[in-house]
Amino acid sequence: MNPNSLVSIDDLSEEDILAILEDARFFEENPNHKILDGKVVATLFFEPSTRTRLSFETAVNRLGGRVIGFSDANTSSSSKGESLKDTIKMVSNYVDLIIMRHFQAGAAEYACSVTDTPVINAGDGSNQHPSQTMLDLYSILKTQGRLDNLDITMVGDLKYGRTVHSLLEAMRFFKPRFRFVSCPELAMPQEYIDICEKLGMPYEIHTELSPEVINSTDILYMTRVQRERFEDLAVYERVKDCYSLNNAMLEGSRDNLRVLHPLPRLNEIAEDVDDNPKAYYFDQARNGLFARQALICRALGISTDDIRAAESK
Ligand code: CP
Repeated sequence: MNPNSLVSIDDLSEEDILAILEDARFFEENPNHKILDGKVVATLFFEPSTRTRLSFETAVNRLGGRVIGFSDANTSSSSKGESLKDTIKMVSNYVDLIIMRHFQAGAAEYACSVTDTPVINAGDGSNQHPSQTMLDLYSILKTQGRLDNLDITMVGDLKYGRTVHSLLEAMRFFKPRFRFVSCPELAMPQEYIDICEKLGMPYEIHTELSPEVINSTDILYMTRVQRERFEDLAVYERVKDCYSLNNAMLEGSRDNLRVLHPLPRLNEIAEDVDDNPKAYYFDQARNGLFARQALICRALGISTDDIRAAESK
């Protein structure tokens, strides 16, 4: 495995996270640099994506690199039965970095094990989505001015939602207080409750998105119910509209509250929230570009110090 790969948010220390956030800030202020001249990056998306793929590809383009890959695995030889191992070994012949989304939890770790090329996990099943977490952290830092001692409420599909799993683990350095709001079928998995217990991160479990919960929250992290993960679609139909945030529900909330959502959204945030200054989800997605520029540079061993040095010549 290439040590610069990013499979799980657990791969990053607090120091790593803070350095990536600092680099994200640098790229937000200076998005265009030709530091990837001559580099080729593969985006292999075995599952659909809008934001993750396009922001990664924009990040490569803005840094002067080239992108190959596929957004639909049916157009690749995996549709003929080629294994993930063989696909990764082939693509490794051509590129400097692989960015991969896959429907199976653990696929990114497996991909890393069969290549020396760095791999960034762009989401593996219901497991992890570490690049999303870095843009979430960047969004939290920008809106709250800090990462520590925040009240974070996660709402919706906490069972299958890989973004909440990664974010929960990333917050272990920053003394969060969590509230998990879901219907029982979509509760936060026990392994993540165990992490909270082990690391002393206080949490409450709720089934109602009540005014008391909303009004004592700094970050309200809404999520979509992940239809594609359900074995029994009858269960999905029963739980899909458990929560729907509307503007009136934010009336008594803290001034600093921001509504985050990894997107895409369905019915869990009404469109009347979009114009509320506390709605941050579209800005959050924009932050993905800068966080991903930082992650690409990290994976390729390029520091922003190198960029500054190159530009001062
Ligand atoms: N947040 C996120 O992963 O969005 P996409 O599925 O559109 O990439």
